[in-house]
Amino acid sequence: MARPTESSGRHLVLVGMMGSGKTSVGRRTAERLGRPFLDSDAHVEARTGRSVREIFESDGEAAFRRLEAEALDAALDAPDPAVIAAAGGVVLDADNRARLRGSATVVWLRADPEVLAARVGSSDHRPLLGDDPERVLQQMDRDRRHLYQDVADHVIDVGTRSVEEAVETVLEVLEVSE
Ligand code: S3P
Repeated sequence: MARPTESSGRHLVLVGMMGSGKTSVGRRTAERLGRPFLDSDAHVEARTGRSVREIFESDGEAAFRRLEAEALDAALDAPDPAVIAAAGGVVLDADNRARLRGSATVVWLRADPEVLAARVGSSDHRPLLGDDPERVLQQMDRDRRHLYQDVADHVIDVGTRSVEEAVETVLEVLEVSE
């Protein structure tokens, strides 16, 4: 399916680590823009009828990553410009990164691992966090920082911002790019 080519018709994709607020900021931004809101984890769970944790535990991470890539494709193929919350791991895959760079305005919601660790609760869709979320998030931050940077048109520091403040900042940077 043809993808929007004009920047004003592009999808807005939020990327970033677990706990950065992609879903809450994305949902609210979509409301403000009058756009559909799509969430790649929700797509995977709806499609498989299983939670992210169940998929990790029964089929392994590689199988989850394939479903995650399909969910990203499905979201980017949506005909109307949407706001898309892309799960934290989508940037691990080079094809995902190429697709993001080519077909969307990408905003990285950035925060320090200590801040993220304080925000992530126990959740059925974050099996990778284990018993020591802060340590895991620190390692992920080292591994992924350059990948988020690689796909991002804009970087927003969400560390000290409320959801509403982050939404306002997303809307501001979007205006600049459209
Ligand atoms: C993951 C992030 C999670 C979920 C899974 C793996 C990651 O999504 O897809 O637990 O590797 O960063 P959120 O970023 O929406 O929490």
